[in-house]
Amino acid sequence: MFRWVGSYFAPTRFPPPPIQDESHLMKAVILREHGGPEVMEYIDFPTPKPPQGSKDIVVDIVAAGINPVDCKLRQGPAANFLYPKPKIVGGDMAGIVSFAPEGSAFKKGQRVFAMLPLLCSTFGSYAEKCCVAEDILCLAPSNYSLVDLATIPLVATTVIQAMRPVKEAFPGDILKSKKIFIPNGSGGVGTFAIQYCANELGMQVTTSCSSKNMALCKSLGAQEVIDYKTTDFAEVIRDYDVVLDSMGFKNEETILYGNKHILKPSTKENPTFYLRIASSPHGKSQKEESDFPPDPLGWTIPESRIDRVIGSFTKQYLANHFNILPNGIRYYFILVVSEKPALEEVRQAIEKGTIKPVIQERIPLSEAVRAHEIQEAGHVTGKLVLVVNSELEGRETAQGKET
Ligand SMILES: NC(=O)c1ccc[n+]([C@@H]2O[C@H](COP(=O)([O-])OP(=O)(O)OC[C@H]3O[C@@H](n4cnc5c(N)ncnc54)[C@H](OP(=O)(O)O)[C@@H]3O)[C@@H](O)[C@H]2O)c1
Repeated sequence: MFRWVGSYFAPTRFPPPPIQDESHLMKAVILREHGGPEVMEYIDFPTPKPPQGSKDIVVDIVAAGINPVDCKLRQGPAANFLYPKPKIVGGDMAGIVSFAPEGSAFKKGQRVFAMLPLLCSTFGSYAEKCCVAEDILCLAPSNYSLVDLATIPLVATTVIQAMRPVKEAFPGDILKSKKIFIPNGSGGVGTFAIQYCANELGMQVTTSCSSKNMALCKSLGAQEVIDYKTTDFAEVIRDYDVVLDSMGFKNEETILYGNKHILKPSTKENPTFYLRIASSPHGKSQKEESDFPPDPLGWTIPESRIDRVIGSFTKQYLANHFNILPNGIRYYFILVVSEKPALEEVRQAIEKGTIKPVIQERIPLSEAVRAHEIQEAGHVTGKLVLVVNSELEGRETAQGKET
């Protein structure tokens, strides 16, 4: 029932789930109950088969990118109708097509990447195989290994979806004169967002990170970098056009209501934007947020609690139609949803060389528990990626560190 309603309103969030093929097993990282990283098991699990009548593509996964949301969903709790258990963890993947139905736009052997829907399916990306709907699968760029490209889909889709209203408001070269502040520049979202905004859109980017990552953020395209450990951004950022915030749980109050003029006053001709990527502190589950009553849907991620989501989208509507925010600032709340056009856009950018994956560590699939421990500590530079099957593509290395 929930999926039926969900798939009506958001078909790419709630596609029909694959069938479990009990006769063929694959290596996968699953969880049977919510909890710390140790609840994840590396086991043999039935492979996915496209549901009857679907045009899904089967992909042999080379690598699975890790995102904070994987840890938050693992921590839970989430009702089974949202997050069916046993559940293969993960959403981001890159791999090679092993089956494409007749008439499909894809062919066996092609290199592809995608963000799998995070909810309502047993099958995630921490496994040797997945089934993907054709309309969210994209050919992978040719100039990076699939291991590295597995880190891209979720962060790229998030940032591209967030920046759409800004691109619409400032067509052509106008965007190049605009200043954007991207807090948390050294994380997964930040390292992508700096490159996209500076190198693809030509905007003037300021970011914040700690001293160890300042050189990296500059090399990615940031013109100014603030050390968040020594400087309060609210004291130095003035009259910006856009804030793209993946730490809104911490910053929103100051940016919108702190009377600090972080954003310019917004006008019809020259709007200013606060883009709030739904986010929550690392390692915190809804259970631990004792100041709030339980979410009516049993939703697992604090940032996705139904009351906050409804509240934030209502705020977005009121801000953009009735100017309810100080200085008329426009407000957008972002909850990423899988899509192909964003991946097509990023594929071209990566092939042009304006965007590259930034990877802290490549970790074997069997060490997913360790990978989640690192991710959850909240200090990853760029991304972590789980290597599932490096032999599928000759160029991958199963281990190694590089930024
Ligand atoms: N709503 C959506 O659709 C969506 C999509 C993607 C992500 N998100 C959310 O967005 C948030 C960020 O995601 P992410 O992937 O970028 O996380 P991440 O990669 O885990 O971020 C880690 C980075 O944050 C930096 N950091 C920590 N505290 C900071 C501070 N006060 N100021 C500046 N930087 C700080 C750390 O730097 P140091 O090591 O120097 O401390 C580290 O490099 C998460 O809550 C995630 O769930 C939401």
